[in-house]
Amino acid sequence: MCGIVGYTGSKNATSILIEGLETLAYRGYDSAGIAVWDGENIVMKKEKGQLSNLKSILEAEPVFGNSGIGHTRWATHGEPSYINSHPHGDDKKQLVLVHNGIIENYVRLKNMLINKGCHFVSDTDTEVIAQLVGDLYSGEPLKAITEAIRMLEGSFAVAIMFRDDPHRIYCVCKDSPMVVGFGKSGAHIASDIPAMLAYTRDVTFMGDKQIAVLSPDGIAFYNEFGNPIDKGCTHIDWDLDSAKKGSYEHYMMKEICEEPTAFRKTAEQYVSFKEPRLKADCFPWTAEDIPNVKRIRILGCGTAYHAGLLGKKYFAELAKIPVEIEIASEFRYSDYTFEDGEVLLLISQSGETADTIAAMRMAKSAGIPTVAVCNVIGSTIAREADDVLFTYAGPEIAVAATKSYLTQVAVLFLAALRLGQLRGTVSDERISSLLSQLAYIPSSMEKLIDAREEIQYFASREFSAKHVFFIGRGIDSALSMEAALKLKEVSYIHSEAYAAGELKHGTIALIEDGTLVIALATQRHLASKTESNIEEVRVRGANVLAVTNGSLPSIDSHCSKVWRIEETNELLAPFCAIIPLQLFAYYMAVQKGCSVDKPRNLAKSVTVE
Ligand code: AGP
Repeated sequence: MCGIVGYTGSKNATSILIEGLETLAYRGYDSAGIAVWDGENIVMKKEKGQLSNLKSILEAEPVFGNSGIGHTRWATHGEPSYINSHPHGDDKKQLVLVHNGIIENYVRLKNMLINKGCHFVSDTDTEVIAQLVGDLYSGEPLKAITEAIRMLEGSFAVAIMFRDDPHRIYCVCKDSPMVVGFGKSGAHIASDIPAMLAYTRDVTFMGDKQIAVLSPDGIAFYNEFGNPIDKGCTHIDWDLDSAKKGSYEHYMMKEICEEPTAFRKTAEQYVSFKEPRLKADCFPWTAEDIPNVKRIRILGCGTAYHAGLLGKKYFAELAKIPVEIEIASEFRYSDYTFEDGEVLLLISQSGETADTIAAMRMAKSAGIPTVAVCNVIGSTIAREADDVLFTYAGPEIAVAATKSYLTQVAVLFLAALRLGQLRGTVSDERISSLLSQLAYIPSSMEKLIDAREEIQYFASREFSAKHVFFIGRGIDSALSMEAALKLKEVSYIHSEAYAAGELKHGTIALIEDGTLVIALATQRHLASKTESNIEEVRVRGANVLAVTNGSLPSIDSHCSKVWRIEETNELLAPFCAIIPLQLFAYYMAVQKGCSVDKPRNLAKSVTVE
């Protein structure tokens, strides 16, 4: 989705804005622009396509100044074009602004403004905000902004510069993320933390309809009525390098290689490995809560939903509690009636996914307790959920979620274990044995990552595949959903996951000579069943690759290739099995020359519906 940056201070704004936009490029965009006060005018430069196009324009026609705003646009209203790119201004040339989000009543507002004589130049809903604030402006920015936000419906994060006072930047947001921070040389705004990490780690997350006024000397905050408010700041301990690509060709590979560390860091927050034991205080439930926890409902989107599929297996197996899972975008428009004793478990890496936020707010207004599994401190979901189980994956820049998925699954496993402990459904001996085995997972992952050339070689032979099917049973079936999503999103190869036993109810009709089928077989009690399914597709011509541990000694005879993971408890097998599958998706995409970190049509953080 769109990225916003802003800066006012003593340094050259243009380079800070471009650097910030480059950091936010992972969010996905199709045009970019900046507006900088050059001492006489607010100079706007914008261009369709990659940031490099905008940079070429700035090289030919440099702009210098100490305050400015910038934007990468992901088109929602109006095609990607110069005219539709941000910043936008008003007819009277009093202001410029950039916007992320969707204004739902923009047609009505646009007609109202046209009737008042405004001339629109773009097809965007954003220009409506610019014209509206311009129409309401009579020398008092705060007054115009507070009046405008009362009229706007939908979601917005907006940064505005007024020509009358160009060293101040006004920001306001609703249902769309925005973070502000004050560094040594001035004040910054951004849609996401990594864009300002080079300048400050003490940041403030904007709340709904709150207004921040940035000046070279500091940041002041106001509520939606324009009254001053105090807002604290949050210290972010992500280091600068964690948001940089370093020597890696792609963020996706860097982030896969970071998985053992991310896993270790996350697990250590919830487990004391010395004894080993769960750190009881780190989980949302106490013994007194248990009679009131009768059902877990898991919600998320995309990869987060897939992590939830594994979470469902863990809660059912370890805590023996009824557990449901639903896609957040479906749930929010269903006729669901919440029941007493339900706990809503929301999974979101970014904490800003619009559908997951909406589902959380539905539950909260029904008085249902909400627990979030989230990677970003200070994000909307992290702020609003009753409890948060943080993942410690560090910033994830590649659009394809890898380390966030792994750490979400780790947290769900540990939360299920804790609930099982409190409900008396899992013995202390079993907990201790599982945690002891968990401690070895990062080194098993490292071995798989070190052996990645084998996967690269396999991908170099298979990258022309048109269709790939992933099959598995139980936990492997849940994992195969994520493996299929990873492959399709980065390599654009049609891939589907099927519960292995479901194949012969229809899908097996698609298997023909040479079809690539990836079979996951890590669950000993289901191994012989999966083996039969592998044989069913093999005899129909499929080229079968298996990802397995020692649970199927005879598997080599059915498959053209086998990737082995180290032996561990079956519940822990996904932590290792996902590594070769993510690497496979990565190498297939690289072989095909795809844009690995920013796949077409996708955005990292889906902040609009
Ligand atoms: C997967 O690789 C995607 N990045 C996507 O499915 C993602 O998991 C989904 O949009 C949810 O994002 P969230 O975890 O930030 O809520």
